[in-house]
Amino acid sequence: MNSKMAQFFEEHPQIRYTFFGGKGGVGKTVVAAAVANWIAEQGKKTLLASTNPVHSLSNLFQMDVFGKEVLIPGTNNLYVEEIDTKDTIEKSKREIKEKISWFLKFADIPTKAEEFVESATMNPAFEESAMFENMINIIFEDAYDFYVFDTAPTANARRLLGMSKVYTLWVDKMMKSREEAKEMRLSLSFRKKKVEQEEDPLLDYLTTFRDRIDRMRELLTDEEKTAFFFVTLLESLPLAVIKRFIGWFEDFGIPIGGVIVNEAIDTCDIDETTAEFCLNRVRMQDRYREEVKKSFKNLLGEIPLFEKEVRGLDMIQRVTQALFSTTQ
Ligand SMILES: Nc1ncnc2c1ncn2[C@@H]1O[C@H](COP(=O)(O)OP(=O)(O)OP(=O)(O)O)[C@@H](O)[C@H]1O
Ligand SMILES: [Mg+2]
Repeated sequence: MNSKMAQFFEEHPQIRYTFFGGKGGVGKTVVAAAVANWIAEQGKKTLLASTNPVHSLSNLFQMDVFGKEVLIPGTNNLYVEEIDTKDTIEKSKREIKEKISWFLKFADIPTKAEEFVESATMNPAFEESAMFENMINIIFEDAYDFYVFDTAPTANARRLLGMSKVYTLWVDKMMKSREEAKEMRLSLSFRKKKVEQEEDPLLDYLTTFRDRIDRMRELLTDEEKTAFFFVTLLESLPLAVIKRFIGWFEDFGIPIGGVIVNEAIDTCDIDETTAEFCLNRVRMQDRYREEVKKSFKNLLGEIPLFEKEVRGLDMIQRVTQALFSTTQ
């Protein structure tokens, strides 16, 4: 019989976008790579991309993939890239500065744009949204059959979805006020024609941004195309973290692919000579495995704790095997 993971993708043939969430260090990058590797083996041109400022794909694949899409040697369809977010951040800053300057001039406010730009861009949320922006760009470029994001936009996705309704309302309201302001200027102005033709870069920016957010919201909540997977260890904290994430996601209608357990100790390795320390770990894992089975109806697989860290395509292939090889 096919593994549950393989079955999941068979039952969802249109999935194109996958994401991996979970507590820090539980193996999200490793699992994302293993899934991307399997999808690529199925003949789909696959991009595994990370937009985190602290990348780990170069380390995992043991080759430099920063700022470029690299076809992994030994595979036919697996492309990997650590996306350089610096450019996006600089570009957004420039754009915002332009828009704000334009607006200040339009509204006759005698203040330098710098002060506004500073407060608009000097915060962590700005960087986060630039990373999100990168992800959206990649998706809308549409150059691959399948996308695996080694990015957990969990908080981001949640914020985005919560925000997008408010944002749409806000932009609509802005547009209305802008229209009113324009009309007022028009009625007060002798240069009717000129005012009528005036460009409005701020409004263009806001509407474009709103449309992108709407499209992204549609995509992220489309269960035929998108799946979020959650990775956990058989331990208390990682489990608590994914329970919380899954709760949020259900609230927002974001499709959940399922749960993957990582670093499970293989009980075949246990015998009478096994040290007490290891036996305790195994017992602990058994307890949490029961909890996992009870808590999640969509448990998709379990990856063993390997004798060494996962680095290089050979090791990634072992993880792929663990997740996708047929079960008896
Ligand atoms: N099944 C496994 N067996 C052995 N080592 C593993 C296994 N899974 C992951 N590792 C190792 O654990 C470490 C953390 O894995 P990984 O980088 O994938 O976690 P992460 O969740 O992406 O972390 P971060 O939150 O920092 O992005 C890595 O050194 C990886 O090689
Ligand atoms: Mg990672």
